[in-house]
Amino acid sequence: MRLQTHVLGMDFQNPVLLAAGTCGFGMELEDVLDLEALGGFVTKSVTLEPRRGNPAPRVAEFPAGMLNSIGLANPGLAAARSEKLPWIARNVRNARVFVSIAGHTVDEYLRLVEGLDGVDGFVGFEVNLSCPNDARRGGAPFALDPDAVSDVLSGCRARTQRPLVAKLAPNDPNLAGTVRRAEAAGADALTLVNTLPGLLLHPSTGSPELGAGAGGMSGPGLRPAGLRAVREARTATALPIFGVGGVLAAPDAVAYARAGADLVQMGTATFAAARAAPALIRGLERWGRRHGVTSWRDELVRAHTLEATRGTTS
Ligand code: FUM
Repeated sequence: MRLQTHVLGMDFQNPVLLAAGTCGFGMELEDVLDLEALGGFVTKSVTLEPRRGNPAPRVAEFPAGMLNSIGLANPGLAAARSEKLPWIARNVRNARVFVSIAGHTVDEYLRLVEGLDGVDGFVGFEVNLSCPNDARRGGAPFALDPDAVSDVLSGCRARTQRPLVAKLAPNDPNLAGTVRRAEAAGADALTLVNTLPGLLLHPSTGSPELGAGAGGMSGPGLRPAGLRAVREARTATALPIFGVGGVLAAPDAVAYARAGADLVQMGTATFAAARAAPALIRGLERWGRRHGVTSWRDELVRAHTLEATRGTTS
């Protein structure tokens, strides 16, 4: 299967990216996998100031996946500018890199875009509107407040020509409405989905397994929520969609394409096996041979995007 695809006005050598928060800034994985074999990756979310993150333990496993509450630990804007992105600019040529940004206020997102836009090493911003683990923001993430989605994205839009990819939440009761607001505010693409809020308790004590209490669930158990969200979003927009949530192997990526995704992001699988993404790329080639599918873009994405749109409009 020809995996090369064209999204957001640029070529991707294949549709497999590593999701934000699963590959640091690339350099953390350089000794364990060939970053240049990937379609791309999304950096850990960058915040204005460095963040140490939430108390340990920050991850806990359960049979259908993983719960995390990292708390947006990252080196902050200044180090992203001076160390992380210059490393990417020197070392990554073929993989497309998106920088994830996360703010506590609308103004913080805008300052992040202003601070990063002039730096080389990345092709676009993934605007993380949906982190469920940010204690400083208190209640719901931006993604569940359509006015906040609109304010953040329109402000970012006014400050950069680079692609803006809005990362939305799986538990949005009006996802199609939020997607339309994101598009109207200037988003060029969507990432669906972030983790789903969850809680694991020690049965003997009743205390939470994570140091922060609740967290965000990912892994195979998230896949149905991700597929539903991608399908619902596809009915509301023709924007490119990055499908994420429980992508372990080729059939999962194909399911996302059939739901309406243009590209996929792999996350939790990378924690279990660092080389899971290159294995997925090889698996997609085999899947295509076995099923007589010769092009990811023409036979999966385009065909099924049309089908998804027709399915709900007719
Ligand atoms: O806790 C975290 O850093 C998670 C971030 C996210 O899900 O966006």
